[in-house]
Amino acid sequence: MSAPRIVLLGPPGAGKGTQADRLADLYGVPHIATGDILRDNVRAGTALGEKAQQFMEAGELVPDDLVTDMLRDRLADGDARAGFLLDGFPRTVPQAQSLERILDDLDRRLHGVILFEIDDREIIQRITGRRVCDTCAAIFNADDERRQCGRHDDLTVDECEGTLFQRADDTEKVVRNRLEVYERETAPLVDFYRQRGLLRSVDAEGPVDEVTARTTDAVDGLVTAPAGDVP
Ligand code: AP5
Repeated sequence: MSAPRIVLLGPPGAGKGTQADRLADLYGVPHIATGDILRDNVRAGTALGEKAQQFMEAGELVPDDLVTDMLRDRLADGDARAGFLLDGFPRTVPQAQSLERILDDLDRRLHGVILFEIDDREIIQRITGRRVCDTCAAIFNADDERRQCGRHDDLTVDECEGTLFQRADDTEKVVRNRLEVYERETAPLVDFYRQRGLLRSVDAEGPVDEVTARTTDAVDGLVTAPAGDVP
């Protein structure tokens, strides 16, 4: 089976980042999360980070051109040549159209799009309880109660000593705005990809392991489907 080239689509808190981390390990492809790249830029105080910060903290989308340029550069990196898991991109129809052009230029095609389906009530609970490592971006839950990351990214690096923090956009007020922005700007991508025969839905509720099992089934189905034959 070839390395997957997959988009993970779904509302904030659906579990895209959690599942992408696991799938990246399973399939040996990079997890490319535009939210993580933007947060790194904000922390590093780059020009891009300064432009993006106010949009992110309000739960609004960063302008398409900024994010698309950033993603184009990332997809050109060698580790993304064979496959990738895109988490948080595309988020608007113009971004999806740009992605088609970027992949065409690189002579690659998307295997498909996984849509994570989840109830709004569960989303608010998950997001307000999320904690993230400031060093390796690993995702935890507040119930975990630890303050240090301690995760082994792989066997060649030492245990991560990052500190867990709550994202500035993870308050209930900002999450509600992010959900409205999702409905308005991102939900139209469901039809965009369904019309292209590239969409598979996955139930994102229930234990993380069960969601991973459903997601890998869907990814395997997309990657092995003959081109143009994806339900
Ligand atoms: P981004 O970082 O992409 O945030 P998001 O899409 O809103 O998604 P989240 O990261 O909030 O959720 P997730 O689905 O990854 O859930 P997770 O796995 O963490 O974007 C942030 C901002 O950046 C945007 O608002 C925008 O400003 C900007 N941006 C980014 N990309 C952009 C783009 N392309 N264009 C324009 N602007 C862009 O899980 C959430 C919690 O639930 C965790 O605590 C986790 O432990 C828990 N959890 C996960 N799965 C389960 C489960 N099965 N059961 C119980 N708990 C679970």
